[in-house]
Amino acid sequence: MELPHALRQAVDRALDGIALADLAQAAALLSRRYRAEIRDGRLHLNDDAAALAYLATRLPATFAAIRASMAAVAGRASDFAPRSLLDIGAGPGSAIWAAGDCWDGLQDALMIEASPAIRRWGERLSAEAAVAQIRWQAGDLSEGLPDLSPRDLVTLCYVLDELAPATRGKLIDRLWALTGGILLIVEPGTPAGWQLILDARRRLIAAGGRIVAPCPHAEACPLAAPDWCHFARRVARSRLHRQAKGAEVPWEDEKFIYLAVARPAVKLTEPAPRVIAPPRGGSGRVSLKLCQPHGEAAETLITKRDGALFKAARRADWGDLLKP
Ligand SMILES: C[S@@+](CC[C@H](N)C(=O)[O-])C[C@H]1O[C@@H](n2cnc3c(N)ncnc32)[C@H](O)[C@@H]1O
Repeated sequence: MELPHALRQAVDRALDGIALADLAQAAALLSRRYRAEIRDGRLHLNDDAAALAYLATRLPATFAAIRASMAAVAGRASDFAPRSLLDIGAGPGSAIWAAGDCWDGLQDALMIEASPAIRRWGERLSAEAAVAQIRWQAGDLSEGLPDLSPRDLVTLCYVLDELAPATRGKLIDRLWALTGGILLIVEPGTPAGWQLILDARRRLIAAGGRIVAPCPHAEACPLAAPDWCHFARRVARSRLHRQAKGAEVPWEDEKFIYLAVARPAVKLTEPAPRVIAPPRGGSGRVSLKLCQPHGEAAETLITKRDGALFKAARRADWGDLLKP
């Protein structure tokens, strides 16, 4: 997956002239902090060097994960057309670009972000986005959210794992209260990210939320550690992205997990099985690991004899719904 053209150009302009050694050093530091899940009271994106490293090395991946999650939302809620967005921990504004790419008609967005360094870049980049009114606001989630009005779409992407555990539940409750249509949470596709999503899922189901995606049911998650639910998107790496990481390969696979929960007024299609692992094919047969609407998950062999289902299974990719 590639960044939208206008965003790619704006990011390239932001990175133009930056010394490669400085970018590589900042990218390495950022990556170390993310991998070690450091929570030392400092924001990871606390200066311009870290913010630029994020633009070069993380934005393409978080955009891809958020965009793919939104595609899954649109796949079950085809009438949902958000006009307003609230994005929390907005970083460089990845969610507004993904939402603008997924849905026409987004008119108004409020982006809340604590770090002045990344907020400044988010503001500059989103000036190129095709959304009429975008407001950026400083806000530290550990101090609670300011007074806000509900929005059609509320997003919280790659933020939960940076927050102190004690603040997460309250934040989810508050975001649900601010959700007019759909709340989307995206996290890294690690066992820890999946646990954060499971906690949010339990909370939101108890609060009356209807799961849009990825789960086709509201039963307990059928997966058990060491297995975990996650998806992946292949992300194109620009030359600078490769150089900043000292990488040769022109792509990387971003693993992510997400949860989208809807208010009752949002119309959803009937749940269908979701493919929760890479398909394994052979001649005349496809093996899919499916999470089923009745709440179970299992590897399922589908053969030519299954007719239309086999045709659908051959087309289905990791993360898709299986619909004959
Ligand atoms: C990994 S970045 C994700 C940015 C963006 N949502 C994306 O998906 O690309 C996490 C963002 O959450 C912000 N953040 C972390 N803790 C925060 C807090 N306590 N209050 C507000 N924002 C916070 C960080 O500054 C950072 O911009």
